[in-house]
Amino acid sequence: MIRINENYQKLRSSYLFSTISKKVAEFQKANPRKEIVRLGIGDVTLPLPKVCIAAMHKAVDEMADAKTFRGYGPEQGYDFLREAIARVDFKARGADIAADEIFVSDGAKCDTGNIQELFSHDITIAIPDPVYPVYVDTNVMAGRSPGFSGGRYDGFVYLPSTEANGFVPEFPKGTVDLIYLCFPNNPTGATITREQLAAWVDYARTNKALILYDAAYVAFIRDQSLPQSIYEIDGAREVAIEFRSYSKTAGFTGTRCAYTVVPKTCMAYDAKGAAHPLNAMWNRRHTTKFNGVSYPVQRAAEAVYTDEGQQQIRDLNDYYLENARMIREGMAALKLPCVGGDNSPYIWVKTGADSWQFFDMLLSKAGVVCTPGSGFGSCGEGYIRLSAFNSHENVRKAIERFGVAVRGM
Ligand code: MLT
Repeated sequence: MIRINENYQKLRSSYLFSTISKKVAEFQKANPRKEIVRLGIGDVTLPLPKVCIAAMHKAVDEMADAKTFRGYGPEQGYDFLREAIARVDFKARGADIAADEIFVSDGAKCDTGNIQELFSHDITIAIPDPVYPVYVDTNVMAGRSPGFSGGRYDGFVYLPSTEANGFVPEFPKGTVDLIYLCFPNNPTGATITREQLAAWVDYARTNKALILYDAAYVAFIRDQSLPQSIYEIDGAREVAIEFRSYSKTAGFTGTRCAYTVVPKTCMAYDAKGAAHPLNAMWNRRHTTKFNGVSYPVQRAAEAVYTDEGQQQIRDLNDYYLENARMIREGMAALKLPCVGGDNSPYIWVKTGADSWQFFDMLLSKAGVVCTPGSGFGSCGEGYIRLSAFNSHENVRKAIERFGVAVRGM
């Protein structure tokens, strides 16, 4: 008899963004004439940067000619891309990362979800609350939670990220083995200072713990005093894995390209306390389960690292940051406190209302889609997340309709 992985029974019925898109589709079906503005899932709306398109076209032409055609590429990514990443994203910022510590993949969602396979089942995992749901759900699927109770999965150490701590989680009371951090944060849009991040690196070094650092939104940082990579912090090479993505950086949500950095000095331990390099383990996993990102897409990602490419992605993300600024201004006019949106495409708005009820109200009265804060964890109750990924015109429309709906509450 074929049997299921019963850990799936412990999951709440559907993934957050699938639930939202189902609700929006139902609403649209019932109200076909209503124009909906989507500030829910962080999906980009602007076309790819011109340099990426040109590089992709050229690569497609190479695939059309037997002399330049390429079949399977290296699972870890082509050297041309890994070297450009190491040079521009890390070495130029004083972070000592080499090309062979970089694994190119099809998404940070997949990598942050898959990485937990490398670790023992009985580790203690610290997860911020609110949090990107992939970190939690993938550990539940893997059997690291006995079940769901009181609005949370059991078996994890939750680190509340609240107004009181500036949305940067405090250290756990006991010791933990694996820590998920994401900055600029999804969903709150909060950032972490160099000193705060250094304290987390110290914590991990002291406790032989590992930090999984999700930096998918790094391209939105405009405050130059903020760290862009955890490897800008001394000692992080021993205790941190970092995830990056071109989805938001260069508008690749539909194109798919990302990378994960696993320094060769980053270790995890067996039951006898012997150290094992995670780079070799991730390489084993990656080469077994993944066959690489397509050549034209990697050429498009490489183009991001030219001078022109750097300027074009800056302009692209400045466009969304202007939306974020407008949203913040709109929320301030409504006297709704919010964070994020200055070094991040997300704005975390305190409505004080039940977040799913607020979601329903906003959709039905204003035709605006947000993400309910409680979907990211119980500390998100009373909040909603607004995404700045849309056109200026739609964002203006959404703010206006949001105001009318909230004033009429
Ligand atoms: C989000 O809206 O949180 C993200 O777009 C989801 C993702 O990147 O998978």
